[in-house]
Amino acid sequence: MKKLALVTGAKGGIGSAITEKLVQDDYRVIATHFTGGAQCAQDWFEEKGFKQDQVRLLELDVTDTDQCATRIAKLLEEEGTIDVLVNNAGITRDSVFKKMDAEKWHDVINTNLNSLFNVTQPLFAAMCEKGGGRIINISSVNGQKGQFGQANYAAAKAGMMGFSKSLAAEGARAGVTVNVVAPGYTATPMVTAMRDDVLESITNQIPMKRLAKPEEIAASVAYLASEAGAYITGETLSVNGGLYMQ
Ligand code: CAA
Repeated sequence: MKKLALVTGAKGGIGSAITEKLVQDDYRVIATHFTGGAQCAQDWFEEKGFKQDQVRLLELDVTDTDQCATRIAKLLEEEGTIDVLVNNAGITRDSVFKKMDAEKWHDVINTNLNSLFNVTQPLFAAMCEKGGGRIINISSVNGQKGQFGQANYAAAKAGMMGFSKSLAAEGARAGVTVNVVAPGYTATPMVTAMRDDVLESITNQIPMKRLAKPEEIAASVAYLASEAGAYITGETLSVNGGLYMQ
């Protein structure tokens, strides 16, 4: 029987690559989506050529605690315990802090950090009871080093790391590993939407002088999800072309 993965924000740039890689590795993937609605998700499903036994779409607002609790409980009844959870959904609302309003702050904290509670809480106990599981949280190089214009985003992405180490301690005895993948600047719509001059100056600061390919991020997720990654927990795997070395 196929292992079951749940990927939030699955139709985004990195989410799509993770979903495709896990399908290649023979997982059945629950692909959650929110922005754009059901038709947009269906179009993505068809464009990628997924089959029903490979990917199931689930509309999920990761900022909504009650909706996550209800929909994930129902999902577990229908599909069984999730083996691999990838908390990938994320947004940016970049602004210098002087001009940052409360909405930009809360939107980012809700989507990028509070979502970890909302999505992981309904799954974690079942994973522990089953005696194994993988939780992989997609953070960012900017949660490690900070970034001009991203006080909200960097706060959320750094918070993911503290969360992951704590949950790793709680899940270890049950064989549930919790890790972080911290991508650098990756060739996705989120990054290419940046102003050309800003993106060019950032690319120049990357020792490898190029953006990451989404597949390079997905490969690290797949490794942490695999049997080969069984003894790694509470760790952050940086995939950033040398932009930040810890
Ligand atoms: N360090 C120091 N000063 C800087 C700076 C930096 N990195 N960047 C800009 N400044 C200076 C500018 O030179 C400018 O100075 P002057 O007023 O003296 O000319 C001043 O700060 C204002 O800068 P901007 O003109 O850029 O201000 P803005 O209000 O037009 O734009 C911003 C602000 C939208 C935050 C823009 O600076 C920006 O896009 N910055 C990059 C943010 C970023 O890296 N986002 C990543 C998005 S992708 C992602 O998040 C994925 C991931 O995980 C990596």
